[in-house]
Amino acid sequence: MSTSPNAEKLHQLEARRRQALEGGGPERIKKHHAQGKLTARERVDTLLDPGSFVELDALVVHRTTEFGMDRQKVPGDGVITGYGTIDGRLVFVFSQDFTVFGGSLSEMHARKICKVMDLAVQNGAPLIGLNDSGGARIQEGVRSLGGYADIFYRNVRASGVIPQISAIMGPCAGGAVYSPAITDFILMTEHTSYMFVTGPNVVKTVTHEEVTHEDLGGAHAHATKSGVAHLTFDNEVDTLMGLRTLLSYIPQNCEERPPERPYTPAASELVPELDDFMPPDPSMPYDIKDVIRRICDADSFFEIHPDYAENIVVGFARMGGMPIGVVANQPAHLAGVLDIDASKKGARFVRFCDAFNIPLLVLVDVPGFLPGTDQEWNGIIREGAKLLYAFAEATVPRVTVITRKAFGGAYDVMNSKHIGADFNYAWHTAEIAVMGPKGAVEILYRKAIAQADDPQAFLDEKIQEYTDHFANPYKAAELGYIDEVIRPSETRDRLLRAFGILRNKVDTLPRKKHGNIPL
Ligand code: HXC
Repeated sequence: MSTSPNAEKLHQLEARRRQALEGGGPERIKKHHAQGKLTARERVDTLLDPGSFVELDALVVHRTTEFGMDRQKVPGDGVITGYGTIDGRLVFVFSQDFTVFGGSLSEMHARKICKVMDLAVQNGAPLIGLNDSGGARIQEGVRSLGGYADIFYRNVRASGVIPQISAIMGPCAGGAVYSPAITDFILMTEHTSYMFVTGPNVVKTVTHEEVTHEDLGGAHAHATKSGVAHLTFDNEVDTLMGLRTLLSYIPQNCEERPPERPYTPAASELVPELDDFMPPDPSMPYDIKDVIRRICDADSFFEIHPDYAENIVVGFARMGGMPIGVVANQPAHLAGVLDIDASKKGARFVRFCDAFNIPLLVLVDVPGFLPGTDQEWNGIIREGAKLLYAFAEATVPRVTVITRKAFGGAYDVMNSKHIGADFNYAWHTAEIAVMGPKGAVEILYRKAIAQADDPQAFLDEKIQEYTDHFANPYKAAELGYIDEVIRPSETRDRLLRAFGILRNKVDTLPRKKHGNIPL
């Protein structure tokens, strides 16, 4: 029985579709699975709402003829691209297929990525990159490098317009790291992903250091040492689920508000246990995350960068169903001091929130900036200024709660009234001063202490005097720098009201091309 021309063509279409689904073939897929990795397609299916993915460019092939490449064409050319939904919201996605030329980036592979990037910007939806690539496709030379640059250019142009999120799910070497670096968040999978500009072999040749892939650029190294990775996960499924959670706090684009959850106000929003929360001794540490969890909606806190610069805590949460960004000094780590890493971590998070209309809650318990040659020579002046700059330029609703110490320049920097915060609250335990009592008294009374009959008794007396005078929130409240001194138990109630009335806040920056944040 002869088949009709139409049936023949349909058959051809189906054959091409099937071929496109095969990637680099069963052997390579088997090897890939054996490493505990999902295929590029499985990742997309895991990430997106079931049945929502629509693929584009599945039949694209490369145009290279050198090195026998004309005999090795795989439909899709090593990257799966398209769109779908996460929790019903549109996203654009690309997922590199390591089974096809090691996921390496060719001219056509890059062109496919650029197409979904352009679509994401034009349609105001997030772009998600699932990266698993040996870098520039060696056989293509400069055409591959051009492809990378086309992507970088789009990453930069899209920055602040749509959220861009990178998950690193395999190797990411050479040029492959710079696109993720420009995006807003980098998620990595433990033990199967790594990122570096040059691998261990080049490192050994140039610096004579012997280092493993994992130590040089594994998830742990980037989550704890470099801060390049914002979040790490034990396995790929958790990484993709983490990405879904992250998106649940973020709007589709810079023109929209973040997605709200329904919220029924409680009969009372007071949190009585907070009144007894603060340790009696002001130098005793406590975990600020215990405060965050109590004042934000239950189970809503999603920490970003949890293992890097732990002296500052940043993350998303919800307040009455509305996403907010939280920035908080962490007294449980280095007494919550501001250093270079903490300043950079905080500044980048503040700028993300401001770019995407996410209101900011700032919790302050900070003894100041970290002194020392290491910090000074590495530029704490410039780096600390980043945090100051980020807060001062932010136009989103901004609310501050000083729980305990707010000393020196750090008082100014941590979203003080003077740099544009909308509401500033202080707990009754707050101490707002130029510096801590001991340091202040030793400077003010250096000579007198040396000449005193009993220097320790004199010091103690002066410390008490200073403490009585300055170690409280009332001087700042008398000046209106603090809008209200509150009981800790009242914090959530005040924040719900504050963010509620700030919903329609309008604030604009002076006309300019762009500011010049100290980089
Ligand atoms: C072409 C590549 C490739 C590449 C890997 N493959 N990388 N093909 N171009 N860049 C191919 C391999 O030939 C192999 O093909 C398959 O992918 C799997 O690679 P393996 O080496 O077998 O896998 P594995 O042992 O897991 O090692 C993965 C790897 C390694 C660590 C990523 O392949 C590697 O080091 N690749 C080169 C990395 C690199 O230096 N890239 C260039 C960076 S420079 P078969 O057919 O055997 O399956 C760069 C410049 C951009 O990116 C600058 C822009 C600014």
